[in-house]
Amino acid sequence: MSNSPVYDGNGKLIKVGDDLRHIAFIMDGNGRWAKARGRSRAYGHTEGAKVFEKIVDYCGKIGIKYVTVYAFSTENWKRPKREVDKIMSLLERYIERLFERYSEYDVRVKFIGTKDGLSEKLIEKMERAEKVTEKNPRILNIALNYGSREEIVSAFNRLIQKGYVNITEEDIQKELYTASCPDPDLIVRTAGEERLSNFLLWQAAYSELYFTDTLWPDLAAEDVERAVSEYYRRTRRYGGL
Ligand code: FPP
Repeated sequence: MSNSPVYDGNGKLIKVGDDLRHIAFIMDGNGRWAKARGRSRAYGHTEGAKVFEKIVDYCGKIGIKYVTVYAFSTENWKRPKREVDKIMSLLERYIERLFERYSEYDVRVKFIGTKDGLSEKLIEKMERAEKVTEKNPRILNIALNYGSREEIVSAFNRLIQKGYVNITEEDIQKELYTASCPDPDLIVRTAGEERLSNFLLWQAAYSELYFTDTLWPDLAAEDVERAVSEYYRRTRRYGGL
């Protein structure tokens, strides 16, 4: 057990330390990336989905146990129907890919968010993906139809239904979609925006935040390596000294 990352002779990251267990990504900038190339936003999302797979693979390679990605927020329904349909069909396709490749993958997929408003077909595929990967060791949380305020409100409502009167932080934590997962150590947001946009608000209490101007479809392993190096330059005090 070591909290120090391991680098090779050329200073390339080989493995993160044991204290960096969970990285979460806000995959922003697909639309701008496509626009800059005179292409449709849908094309940006298609390229974004490819990069998502590469980044998840890289995180596994450097020993990250938990990865969470923000794929679709409860607010994303406000986008034009055509774009929403495209993101939904990309997600369906990706989930299908998981069925085909799941025995090669070492990730256990979990969907976090509400099922309200999702198609029956998609829900069925999500549940099957969770089932076929359930024995895999690494966790990939895909935040789909996710909003942190909705998550917290529904956690409170479940506690009320169970008859709780005085609630503790642990009670709330246990009702979140991420209940079985440690809080993110590092949250990376691409495309220059420096906000959380209703993503993991409770869980991010002590997360290190890393913002990069790189647009999501341009994100490469080297960028994740930079975020990890920055993480190790910071001292986490959790409110202490
Ligand atoms: C943000 O870019 C991206 C999204 C709202 C969708 C994220 C979806 C993917 C990366 C593809 C599918 C995901 C998986 C898990 C297969 P934006 O559209 O807000 O970009 P912009 O800010 O430049 O307009």
